Amino acid sequence: MPQPSLFTDAISRASEKNQTRTVLALDLEGTAPSALIEESKRLLREVSDQICAVKINRQLILALGLTHGIDSIVAFAHSLSLPTIMDAKLNDVGHTNASMARAYFRCGFDAIIASPIAGWEGGLDSVFELAKTIRKSIILLIHMSNPGAEKFYSCTVRDNKSLFESFAEMAIQWKAHGVVVGATKPQAISRVRRIIGDLPIYSPGVGAQGGDGREAIEAGANYIIVGRRIYSSPDPAKAAREIRLMTAAKL
Ligand code: XMP
Repeated sequence: MPQPSLFTDAISRASEKNQTRTVLALDLEGTAPSALIEESKRLLREVSDQICAVKINRQLILALGLTHGIDSIVAFAHSLSLPTIMDAKLNDVGHTNASMARAYFRCGFDAIIASPIAGWEGGLDSVFELAKTIRKSIILLIHMSNPGAEKFYSCTVRDNKSLFESFAEMAIQWKAHGVVVGATKPQAISRVRRIIGDLPIYSPGVGAQGGDGREAIEAGANYIIVGRRIYSSPDPAKAAREIRLMTAAKL
């Protein structure tokens, strides 16, 4: 088990303070960078007391760039006491993974999602070493939320174990600070929970993809990741509050 990280501490503080398990997926789209930044900040201001972290994906980075764009949103989230996750799904050879991770961490992100499929040696070793040195976090993608993922992630790979169970074991071995398992797969969440002990599980796919947040939490997820159900709502604060109330029972 890794030492608790600054990120893990920050998200659990925000979760307790706001009595929420919701991580906002800030996947807004638009063409004018300044409007997109303003819209992102407005949304964060509106829902900040309903969420405990912000996850940013590559589409927002493509639209805004890391400097003079995403960095200002990351700093704004921090000013609201919300830690930030970069959903990079890192999955390349070591030196390029490390280079991307360095850029994301320099931009201010507290944690990065990586895909274990690249393996350790010459894959994610460099990323974990970098994160450890600067006290940042790596979260491993163990099982995806989309329907097509089942065929691959549930394949038996060795000793009668599925690929996602092997990934869960790797998360422990590599001292990851958390794992991602889709909310649409509550049985997979339970099976991963049995393997990883207390390690936090982040669960995307609630709402728009059909996953049930409460079911995911009952199966063992610590946090749910929600995008469209909140930001596409005519009243994002109300949508975020409803999700918070539905999933915060055990806090
Ligand atoms: P919605 O709008 O469906 O957004 O609530 C979900 C967000 O989570 C990301 N996502 C995933 N990220 N593994 C991940 O690492 C997954 O299985 C997964 N499923 C969804 C998605 O890109 C979006 O940002």
